[in-house]
Amino acid sequence: MGRPRLSVVIASTRPTRIGHHVADWVLARVPDDLDVTVHDLRELDLPFLDEPGQPADGNYAHEHTRRWSAAMLATDALVLVMPEYNRGYNAALKNAVDYLYAEWEGLPVACVGYGWHGASYAKSALRQTLERVKMVVVDGPGLSFDDTLTLDGVVGAGPEEEAALATMFDGLLAAARAPLDR
Ligand SMILES: Cc1cc2nc3c(=O)[nH]c(=O)nc-3n(C[C@H](O)[C@H](O)[C@H](O)COP(=O)(O)O)c2cc1C
Repeated sequence: MGRPRLSVVIASTRPTRIGHHVADWVLARVPDDLDVTVHDLRELDLPFLDEPGQPADGNYAHEHTRRWSAAMLATDALVLVMPEYNRGYNAALKNAVDYLYAEWEGLPVACVGYGWHGASYAKSALRQTLERVKMVVVDGPGLSFDDTLTLDGVVGAGPEEEAALATMFDGLLAAARAPLDR
């Protein structure tokens, strides 16, 4: 049996984003027993949802959707590295979630949010969406400006955030279905 596969999604697509720095902090701490792949929504470059059919039907007309679907079917757990914008999560992430449906069911997911106050508004909004698509939501840490993250993306996480990240990986591993018949 292979190692459980973890996907880390960089959700921000802004040219001057700091999300990749937060993702680097996460990636440096991924346990050895997980096989990790990074998905950068900026590179994925999904258009605004342009599938003619309902995602729940799973009949995808576009190659970009089939590629995204295949990537998510080929993972056993997911970490979303996500900024807070206007007390919500960013539109590119919502769009990427909206593209698929059956792929999400039962998939363990955690969010590493960043912004003011640990991106708490964005994290709670995202949780509602993830639960709607029947993902198994595991708690993840939030990084806060002027505390554990600088505005230009230097992570200075303390013991609390490090412990929360370790607990998040434990939770994802416990929930990850054995390399799966997905
Ligand atoms: C459109 C926009 C709205 C924002 N709104 C919030 C907000 O409501 N709460 C917050 O904590 N930070 C907010 N910020 C600050 C972002 O958290 C900060 O710019 C962060 O670097 C964004 O992540 P990114 O650089 O990876 O895109 C906002 C930033 C942008 C660009």
